Amino acid sequence: MSDIQKAAQIIQEGGLVAFPTETVYGLGADALNPYAVAQVFEVKNRPTFDPLIVHVADLRQAEILVQKFPSAALKLVEKFWPGPLTVVLPKSPMVPDIVTSSMPTVAIRVPNHPLALELIRESGRPIAAPSANLFGQVSPTTAEHVRKSFGKKIEMILDGGPCQVGVESTVLSFIDKEPVLLRPGGAPLEEIQALIGPVRVAQKAPGQILAPGQLESHYAPRTPLILAGPQEALPQGQRLGWLGLGKPADPGPFAAVESLSEHQDLREAAANLFAAVRRLDERNLDVIWALPVPDQGLGRAINDRLTKASHRK
Ligand code: TXA
Ligand code: MG
Repeated sequence: MSDIQKAAQIIQEGGLVAFPTETVYGLGADALNPYAVAQVFEVKNRPTFDPLIVHVADLRQAEILVQKFPSAALKLVEKFWPGPLTVVLPKSPMVPDIVTSSMPTVAIRVPNHPLALELIRESGRPIAAPSANLFGQVSPTTAEHVRKSFGKKIEMILDGGPCQVGVESTVLSFIDKEPVLLRPGGAPLEEIQALIGPVRVAQKAPGQILAPGQLESHYAPRTPLILAGPQEALPQGQRLGWLGLGKPADPGPFAAVESLSEHQDLREAAANLFAAVRRLDERNLDVIWALPVPDQGLGRAINDRLTKASHRK
């Protein structure tokens, strides 16, 4: 039996399989099996009010899970699927409540990774999968990252090498009259707007949860991370790590330096982000000093993750 066949069988039997996508590794279960999905929440230590994305192999399989596909959503998925765009649509009754946290909507995408697509096709099931990390922690972009979080707690990890995009999918809701960006991600907002016109960027009112990707503390390393403001002074007398594009102007104060992209390339930076944060987190630093990147293209997703990683209550 091939690895894919084994993995597909685990999914069919209600077990969990971690698998690569182009964005980050996912922790997958049969989306139509509520018991299997419940295990995902349990293993991840994820609150059940935070709904999961359902991964399908193509548009046909997506259509079965929703009530309707608005034309703007169709236009987008025709361009971006398979790829890092998740659309939120009214769900069909076949999607179990636990997947959607009892909301009448479901988030769906077609991942752009051969192993993910083979797993979905071979199992014959849509696969509900959050990122394969413990809740609130940094997302995994290699199979090794997944192993470190879960070890033997999951039955199988499919290794597809490092993720090419490196930040999670863009989440776009089509529930209101106008499309709403719930989470910036691998599909750049500019390219989305070029196709369907203006998109509202969701603003979270205090205490309100629109999409729990908007939870304030998320993607966080153990080491305190400061997202440096323009005039902010460097902490003194601390073991510092540097994270940003290019190189620090003065590397002197830094015990560790992680350049997201020497050439200031935002795609490369996104692909390196989570692994770089993890490496810094292993260096026994007092503080990770992170610099924001230009807020355009994949830079929006990078800044969003850095902001959430830096939030301290
Ligand atoms: O790239 C990705 O999206 C990765 C890979 C594995 O596909 N998955 C991922 O899943 O990042 P997760 O669970 O870490 O993030 C899913 C996001 C959360 O912010 C969740 O709140 C939101 O999608 N979401 C899921 N269902 C939703 C729904 N029905 N309405 C609004 N937001 C939803
Ligand atoms: Mg996640």
